[in-house]
Amino acid sequence: MSSILQCMDCPQQYPIQRVIYTCEACGGLLDVKHDFSAIGKTITPGLFDERLGTFGAPYNSGVWRYKELVYPGVDDQLVVSRMEGNTNLYELPRIGAYAGLDTIFLKHEGENPTGSFKDRGMTTGVTQAKALGMERVACASTGNTSASLASYAARANMQGIIFLQDQKIALGKLAQGIAFGATCLQINADFDRNMELVQLVAERLGIYVLNSVNPFRLEGQKSIMFEALQQLRWQAPDWIVLPGGNLGNSSAFGKGLLEMFEVGLIDRLPRLAIVQAEGANPLYRYFRAGFKNFAPVKADTIATAIKIGNPVNLQKAIRTLEWTRGLVEEVSDQQIMDAKAVIDSVGIGCEPASACSVAGTKKLVERGIIKRGDTVLGVLTGHVLKDPEATIGYHADQIEGIAPSYRNQMLRAKDDIDEIVRLLN
Ligand code: F0G
Repeated sequence: MSSILQCMDCPQQYPIQRVIYTCEACGGLLDVKHDFSAIGKTITPGLFDERLGTFGAPYNSGVWRYKELVYPGVDDQLVVSRMEGNTNLYELPRIGAYAGLDTIFLKHEGENPTGSFKDRGMTTGVTQAKALGMERVACASTGNTSASLASYAARANMQGIIFLQDQKIALGKLAQGIAFGATCLQINADFDRNMELVQLVAERLGIYVLNSVNPFRLEGQKSIMFEALQQLRWQAPDWIVLPGGNLGNSSAFGKGLLEMFEVGLIDRLPRLAIVQAEGANPLYRYFRAGFKNFAPVKADTIATAIKIGNPVNLQKAIRTLEWTRGLVEEVSDQQIMDAKAVIDSVGIGCEPASACSVAGTKKLVERGIIKRGDTVLGVLTGHVLKDPEATIGYHADQIEGIAPSYRNQMLRAKDDIDEIVRLLN
């Protein structure tokens, strides 16, 4: 079963054994392209249902369950897995009511081993690093990619190296990188500059880059769509809504949806809505301008995971929008934190960036683009514990410029039964 690296912009192809991230001929981004012709007929819903609940590797992973669509040719012995994926799909009428819908499905990617969807891309990325014989892997990160890389590098006995900005990293993410023993570099540069730096340094030192510019990352992240559709019994929703930062997930979703359509697992393509924070909205601006004159922005938002002004996967995200008749929305930090409080209040919770899915859905319903009766699948990208400072800051009313509309107050009492009883009454 053969796979190749295919430039998205020109006919150039490269063998998958090459360490290469963009086309040497035209600079375009690369896709991992699998030849489904030989195995197409064996890819059936039954095959994936059969593997559910199995204990053995690699099919006990919610990524490798779809191995035929993810990386068919790789030797099972090389697979570096933490049984990632297998995340829940929640049907949530109370969140639906908040967004103005009859109901909404939220797929919680924060339930992955390191608490974000990045594990799905890291299992395939680190597996490829192993197949290539790499000893060191690196990424620039707003936090989650680095936490995931640190974990998977440790599992594979590789040195993980992470490039972090020296401010505004959510505490939970920073703690993971350090705990898992990655080499953590805090650099006085923002994410976008660190993204450039990591690629330049990696080239000089022969280190494998595991940002989403690496097409093997996206192959794993496609499985969010495969698993969600399996959970929906292969009935495509009307809309899929997700946050957009570096646009790796948006790109992976487009590719995965198209492939499911091509092999006949779904009979129509849902529409994709990418939601950005107002302070980090380069794709939104470009979309509104009819894709004329792209301009990076200097990013700032409380949703630090998506504080990105010059997304690496821009062109692949645009392709996804074309394939899915998709659109781009923006939401304010206030809307993000309010939506997060509502998601938290149903006992599920997420980190700020993830709440873009619900905040964006609400806005699109208010604008009349998503209809009340539409089926919406939102993706929660990260766990509630990733960014405790944002959560506590909101409820304590200590975040500048944000009013906690859904505030939960901390009560304080003396060691006095009468006082406690009075408070609780
Ligand atoms: N949500 C969370 C929780 C994230 O960590 C990220 C990206 C995104 C959404 C956006 O996804 O980049 O594929 O558009 N975090 C990266 C990181 C940039 O370094 O952890 P995207």
